[in-house]
Amino acid sequence: MGKFFGMKIEKKSSLYDGKSKTLFETNHSDLVIQYFKDDATAFNALKKGQIRNKGFLNNSFSTHLFLYLKKLQIESHFVEKLSEREMLVQKLKIIPVEVVVRNRAAGSLCKRLGIEKGKVLRPPLVEYFLKDDSLGDPLVGETHIQQFGWATLDEVFQMKQTALQVNQILSSLFEKIGLSLVDFKLEFGKNSKNQVLLADEITLDGCRLWDHTPGESMDKDRFRLDLGKVDEAYEEVFNRLNQYFMEQK
Ligand code: ADP
Ligand code: TMP
Ligand code: ASP
Repeated sequence: MGKFFGMKIEKKSSLYDGKSKTLFETNHSDLVIQYFKDDATAFNALKKGQIRNKGFLNNSFSTHLFLYLKKLQIESHFVEKLSEREMLVQKLKIIPVEVVVRNRAAGSLCKRLGIEKGKVLRPPLVEYFLKDDSLGDPLVGETHIQQFGWATLDEVFQMKQTALQVNQILSSLFEKIGLSLVDFKLEFGKNSKNQVLLADEITLDGCRLWDHTPGESMDKDRFRLDLGKVDEAYEEVFNRLNQYFMEQK
């Protein structure tokens, strides 16, 4: 296992078994391990399956992106990649609000409001969803978030600003590898010092990426919508990103 300020980190009991990751306690009370699985779900787990090698690919993909964001002053929970499928992160109290940034209309936005798929959204649209599977992650507004104490207005402002910065950084990064960042979902949480940090993962499970030339989905929509070549798309996008970072070294 890894080391943290000289302390040897050991994996302890499972803290939470999620749909695509398992969280483990460690011998350090402020640190947990995210273990990335191959399991994939869609539509609030109504659809279940597996994507070949997804755990490895998502862990590596997220590691690349958290490190890249850190260089550009965006702090996250990421501490270090421990193994092919394990990442050491700061233990956070997750804010139960999913922050979605959209550069083009797709998915639930089109269904909900009848907006034409692909319509360019300028400025990007920021939406909030309550993180509650039993309610189907409903859309909520800033006033609901404050009213029901899911986050303060100041925290909402911080999450929104960070999400928009991440959008700028990742949109231009993905452009370099021939992909348009259509939309993505971020999660945030608070550490033991009450700092709001970017959490969870940034992977193809929570992004829409459209290939420049054929305009095809290169993300989890291939699984959600049974478009085929799901494993291949995950691998292809990872290889492009990995290649890009290798060339920068
Ligand atoms: P789900 O909970 O939707 O099944 P996952 O399978 O991805 O999702 O499980 C990972 C869980 O861990 C998510 O609920 C996520 O909010 C939570 N999480 C992410 N990062 C942290 C963190 N640093 N500390 C504590 N919990 C986290
Ligand atoms: P949506 O169009 O279904 O609202 O999704 C917007 C983005 O958020 C899309 O990139 C996929 C991501 N997302 C998640 O990561 N988890 C979810 O539970 C949902 C519904 C969407
Ligand atoms: N979060 C969704 C689920 O629970 C997955 C998705 O559509 O991305 O199944």
